[in-house]
Amino acid sequence: MVKIPLNKFNYLLHPCLTVLITCKNKETNKTNIITVAWITPVSLNPPILVLSIKPTRFSYKIIKEAREFVVNIPSYNLMKQALFCGSVSGEKVDKFKEAGLRIEKSEKVETPRIKECIAYIECKIREVIKAGDHDLFLADVLLAEAQEKYLTNEGLYNLKVFRPLLHVGKDYFVTVSTVGKET
Ligand SMILES: Cc1cc2nc3c(=O)[nH]c(=O)nc-3n(C[C@H](O)[C@H](O)[C@H](O)COP(=O)(O)O)c2cc1C
Repeated sequence: MVKIPLNKFNYLLHPCLTVLITCKNKETNKTNIITVAWITPVSLNPPILVLSIKPTRFSYKIIKEAREFVVNIPSYNLMKQALFCGSVSGEKVDKFKEAGLRIEKSEKVETPRIKECIAYIECKIREVIKAGDHDLFLADVLLAEAQEKYLTNEGLYNLKVFRPLLHVGKDYFVTVSTVGKET
């Protein structure tokens, strides 16, 4: 056994589904994208998820003030774009333009989606909770939508078709293609 430095314990909980969060500044109407791996569902009735964002991120203030965001689910083939949106600040860069991603209107929120993604969760913030060096955005899910071809008839990801982008750590990613079911 080997002890892991405590500030790296999180890697024992990876790989994590990597998502692209879109946000929109209400005053300037400017949009931004931040790559996030620390996101999880926490309630189904009512539907709530939690998103962990470091206050130093350019997106932090935008999300906090807009009180909404969209979770965009990319496929493994968007790894390069996810790394770009996860390593560059949107303060001076238009990430949609630079990453070659297209803006699409959302249904329940002002914040737009990313056309190249395969599923979306539109959220409004319920509460912001301090959690060490990150803040937790507890958010109500207003809409969840996915391209049909990526789902099974049970409403799960069809991993023969969808290649999820999973973050191992640093700039390593992995995907999966097998589905196990206990019989
Ligand atoms: C795979 C990956 C996952 C990340 N997960 C998170 C996360 O969960 N929370 C967070 O605050 N930053 C996370 N980041 C870092 C931000 O995406 C990164 O600092 C980004 O450049 C911030 O953009 P912004 O300053 O335009 O908001 C992650 C980066 C990568 C590459």
